[in-house]
Amino acid sequence: MVEAIIPEETREAVRLLDQRLLPWEERYLTVREAQDTAEAIRQMAVRGAPAIGIAAAYGLALHMGRRKGLPLPDRRRAFREAYRLLAESRPTAVNLFWALRRLAQVWEAYGEGERPGAVDALWEEARRLHEEDRQQNRRIGQQGAEALWAYLRGRGAVQEGGRIAVYTHCNTGSLATGGYGTAFSILRQLWQEGRLSHVYAGETRPRFQGGRLTAWELQKEGIPFTVVVDSAAGALMAQGKVQAVVVGADRIARNGDVANKIGTYTLAVLAKAHGIPFVVAAPTSTLDGDTPTGEAIPIEERDPEEVQGKEPCRYLAPGAPVWNPAFDVTPASLVTLWITEKGSVKPPFSSNPLSL
Ligand code: MRU
Repeated sequence: MVEAIIPEETREAVRLLDQRLLPWEERYLTVREAQDTAEAIRQMAVRGAPAIGIAAAYGLALHMGRRKGLPLPDRRRAFREAYRLLAESRPTAVNLFWALRRLAQVWEAYGEGERPGAVDALWEEARRLHEEDRQQNRRIGQQGAEALWAYLRGRGAVQEGGRIAVYTHCNTGSLATGGYGTAFSILRQLWQEGRLSHVYAGETRPRFQGGRLTAWELQKEGIPFTVVVDSAAGALMAQGKVQAVVVGADRIARNGDVANKIGTYTLAVLAKAHGIPFVVAAPTSTLDGDTPTGEAIPIEERDPEEVQGKEPCRYLAPGAPVWNPAFDVTPASLVTLWITEKGSVKPPFSSNPLSL
């Protein structure tokens, strides 16, 4: 399995597989504190909601590890500043704030750094949430495959012993998480059970997480797939070529509205129009019970240059104005199944308590 985040045994650095270079180059970049970790998140060297949270947790632990020798007031100030810096790196994925809050809880339990062992405890908490994410993702795969199969069987949409083709969007695999993936974990499970015939991966403009990253992970898994431009999804469904859409999430509001990669909403509308189940898979750390509906979810807008391209690869007419939201919101009414590590769940959701 691909390892997107590798903590060093020395506890002085973490290696992040630079996802901007994939699949052409497999190069790790090394982060040692909050500033470089926040920059890696902002620039999307590390990306995907759970992976962002894990990276931020390590970034905070690394930052404090380098400041062990400072007087207590300076250490406390360093913690607050690093926390803020990391929290400001990307706004939409709630896993980032959830992971930082978990570390803040540990810091507080150690008298905000006054009690000995606080820094070690931060590192261990980061390791713990990394490991928990992997385990949860395995369960998401098992639970999701079972729930989707039961749903399709219940509607006579698949025969016993039959296989389905699934459409997915963006990248939700090992790269986007602590391991295994969320929606990708369901694909992996269906494949292992002999229930998956084919995956259609939307290329996911403008950063091509589908065409670059999901395609790369599917190749490594030996799962048959085809990449399509995002706007081919409707044609595929109209031709009866996909039996389900399975995607991840960056934040799920209390009422079940889902923020995910731009284009997800379009897929949900299309799935509804074609009578195809629309499945959202995420760990409970993506549930945000404090946000009542999707309307209140902050949506990141990124540099127009991502859409315009730059020399030598320009895509648009020079000077063409661009709107570049990184995410959209799919209303709960369009979601067929919400899958977490706890199985198929239904709104209203409360936030995940800070630890399991
Ligand atoms: O902008 P990105 O690449 O971080 O967006 C990622 C997504 O939208 C994923 O679908 C989501 O984080 C779920 S990843 C398991």
